[in-house]
Amino acid sequence: MISETLRRAREYEKEFAAKVPESQRPLFHVTAPVGWINDPNGFSEYKGYYHLFYQYHPYSTHWGPMHWGHVRTRDFVSWENLPVALAPDAEYDSAGCFSGSAITLPDGRQLLMYTSVTRVQDGEKSFDRQQQSIAVGDGLDYEKIDANPVISTAMIPEGNSREDFRDPKIIQENDKYYALIGSRPSDGSGEILLFESYDLRNWQYRTVVARCENEYGRMWECPDYFELDGKQILIVSPQDMKGDGKEFHPGNGTVLFVGEKNEDLSFKRESAQTLDFGMDFYAPQTLETYDGRRVMIGWMQNWDTCNVGNEDRMIYGQMTIPRELSINNGRVCQNPVRELENYHGKGFCYQNAEICGEKSFSGIRGRCLDLTVSLDLTENAGMNWFKIELCKDKVHSVIVKYDASENTLRLDRSRSGGVRDIVNIREFEAPLCDNRLKLRIIMDRYSIELFAGNGEKSASMNVYTPLEAQEIVFSSDKRAVADICGAELVTDAIRN
Ligand code: FRU
Repeated sequence: MISETLRRAREYEKEFAAKVPESQRPLFHVTAPVGWINDPNGFSEYKGYYHLFYQYHPYSTHWGPMHWGHVRTRDFVSWENLPVALAPDAEYDSAGCFSGSAITLPDGRQLLMYTSVTRVQDGEKSFDRQQQSIAVGDGLDYEKIDANPVISTAMIPEGNSREDFRDPKIIQENDKYYALIGSRPSDGSGEILLFESYDLRNWQYRTVVARCENEYGRMWECPDYFELDGKQILIVSPQDMKGDGKEFHPGNGTVLFVGEKNEDLSFKRESAQTLDFGMDFYAPQTLETYDGRRVMIGWMQNWDTCNVGNEDRMIYGQMTIPRELSINNGRVCQNPVRELENYHGKGFCYQNAEICGEKSFSGIRGRCLDLTVSLDLTENAGMNWFKIELCKDKVHSVIVKYDASENTLRLDRSRSGGVRDIVNIREFEAPLCDNRLKLRIIMDRYSIELFAGNGEKSASMNVYTPLEAQEIVFSSDKRAVADICGAELVTDAIRN
């Protein structure tokens, strides 16, 4: 039995998805069939597929009462749309089904745990009540269980906010289930609480997994918690970061902590890093693939930079390319999933290419590209800067620039076609390896994702440039030598 609210959403997306002009869609990044998308949810493997749900408002290109949209894939590049999975159709989630996660139950069904939100009126004021609920299904249809909300406001420890309590990450270990949930203690900052259960219906509060103590932003949203190469990793998306110029930018950020897991599952922090140095990244989630890789996907937007140009489109927002995580010298590195190489079309490779002034190369142009530029800085000792201009025509360009004296990378989308004065420039320290700078750039129509070094730093951004702007131009202040290789990305050229 599906509710009227869910049926309506499913019919709506079916009807309107067909009306979205093809030119508005990226080739291989996840978008909604129609309407608004934010956080990835329930990123998990299930019955031979990888499932991804997402925060979804089909009815407009703005955030609204949250549904869970749904796609699945076998290779993280070709995605299949599935009908809306959750709609705000219960009394306890009438103001929205917020972010959450998924696991497979011992009986083979898939379980979704999400934040069920209601709007409560208290005299003049109204506020959110955020509690945790469960739906169980077969990979297509999900039923909310009668014990919902399973983790209610009454279970929040004394002193913590009743309003900010969201984004459960559910984990199964031995014979128990655990849920990590973002919360706000009395100092106004963030922390991650741990709840436990044997039967998924009855839950108890157990401990604080990690505390922000106003050091990394304030409220921590969207926790993820997993092991990677023998270390324990905690990912959170903090609001109100102050920024420190080098590693963390102000606003809504995404922080990854490397550390150890204590006996009681709480976290011992050793180091912290930002997850993405671009303008558009937030609320990532990870899963473990069938062949043992840890793969992460993020919302390729951010509350500080979204909501520009929504009116001109029928879809708004997209996910990043899924990225494989690994640890190198204590830093977590990201690289696009290897499956992307199955989508390489026509390739190009210019070894020891000489660049002096502006130069473009035959075969290197377009908006869907996997491009790697490698510069030996010992060989290029006299060079002060090196620039790649993407999505270029007479009036537009998106710049990736390396400044050798400062050893910084700078992204600049000021001339990419956007008409709002949002964050358009970001700068960060370049990761060098044996005095060599490697830049891998993934372009998919309206996005550019940069992976620098061996993936030590990534930077993601949306661009609003007309699709006709296809040129790619390289330049440097003095003669420079670079290896420039790559391929077009095409979705109809799968090579197996
Ligand atoms: C993060 C977030 C979550 C919340 C969801 C609502 O982007 O604010 O904390 O569950 O978005 O859509």
